[in-house]
Amino acid sequence: MSQPKIINIVSGKGGTGKTLLTAVLADLLGNENHSTLIVDLDVFVRGLTSLLYYHKKERIELIESNEISIADFFIDKGDMERSGSHKIATSRYRTFDVAPSVSRVDEVLKFTDLMPDTKSEAITLLNALIKKVHNKYDFILLDSRAGYDELIAASHFISDVTICVEEEDSISKITSNNLINQLKEDSDSPIFRLSNKTRTESVNMEYSSGGVEYLGAVPFDMDVMRSFGTKYFWDDISRTIYKSSIARSWNNLSNKLGWNITVDEFRSKPFGNENVERKLQFFSVKDRILLVYGLIIGFIGAIYPLIDLMWIREVLKEPEGMLRVVSMITGALGFSMAAWVLFKNKK
Ligand SMILES: Nc1ncnc2c1ncn2[C@@H]1O[C@H](COP(=O)(O)OP(=O)(O)OP(=O)(O)O)[C@@H](O)[C@H]1O
Ligand SMILES: [Mg+2]
Repeated sequence: MSQPKIINIVSGKGGTGKTLLTAVLADLLGNENHSTLIVDLDVFVRGLTSLLYYHKKERIELIESNEISIADFFIDKGDMERSGSHKIATSRYRTFDVAPSVSRVDEVLKFTDLMPDTKSEAITLLNALIKKVHNKYDFILLDSRAGYDELIAASHFISDVTICVEEEDSISKITSNNLINQLKEDSDSPIFRLSNKTRTESVNMEYSSGGVEYLGAVPFDMDVMRSFGTKYFWDDISRTIYKSSIARSWNNLSNKLGWNITVDEFRSKPFGNENVERKLQFFSVKDRILLVYGLIIGFIGAIYPLIDLMWIREVLKEPEGMLRVVSMITGALGFSMAAWVLFKNKK
């Protein structure tokens, strides 16, 4: 197997959606039969390890006795003989593997025991870490913590590409610019921006900022927010524009880097036109369908009794008036459905 491609996911400020995006991207690659590993480098927040914990039905011990977590690897300064362990722990999660940051999701760590003191020490440690796992994988995704430190500098340095995930607001953009400028000092490896939780279609694919191009815009999605961390999450997001936008952004990246490794962007569109859905992004997919089809049924049902469609009555040989009553009831049901969705979401 050739060298794995290493993809580093960072952000200027916290909570922009890195961890989730990394997991969804890994699953898209896994579905295309690329063996993929996510390394949870965010040892204190450990978002990915927490997702794994719920995936393992809240099993406390996430690693086996002869294995070592990412945090332990850092504490041992890469010397695995010291802990008597000989393997970096990896755990199956759907179609990809995860290297958990800690052995227990509630583990308390000491910052000074763990964080490399210098950039070069961090680079040596990360290279040693990758060497331990690289021969099994086509892709290694690094889920980093927000902001900048020696480890972020090192992960950018050792990666084939860094993706900086940001939100649309100006604070997120400033933090993103600062991080990108800092990373540019560390290495020439390519950097791209990705806008997440967008509320408009304002991010133009051609648009770049500070000389760094955008891979795309991933919209804010009600299904993502509502089902994050629940057991329905993967089912719920399978139909979302969120997932197809991540696929599109990946294909854009692969094209820009000349990798030619695409993932499936397909999603069944309930209305044929994605723009209608983008306008209804604050409703879940189910509610969008109920609302739009409810209104259509409502209007058709309400309009029919107002116009004298004699020919339909003749074709159907319906008793006089019957069709009007049925259509009025159908129309009322359609409107009630739409009104219920609006009421439920307002609450
Ligand atoms: N496109 C989206 N639409 C709606 N909610 C989203 C979207 N992307 C992410 N979220 C939500 O944002 C929250 C933060 O996501 P996530 O933990 O992936 O961010 P993060 O950047 O990894 O955070 P941290 O900096 O703490 O590691 C989660 O509740 C997630 O469901
Ligand atoms: Mg995270």
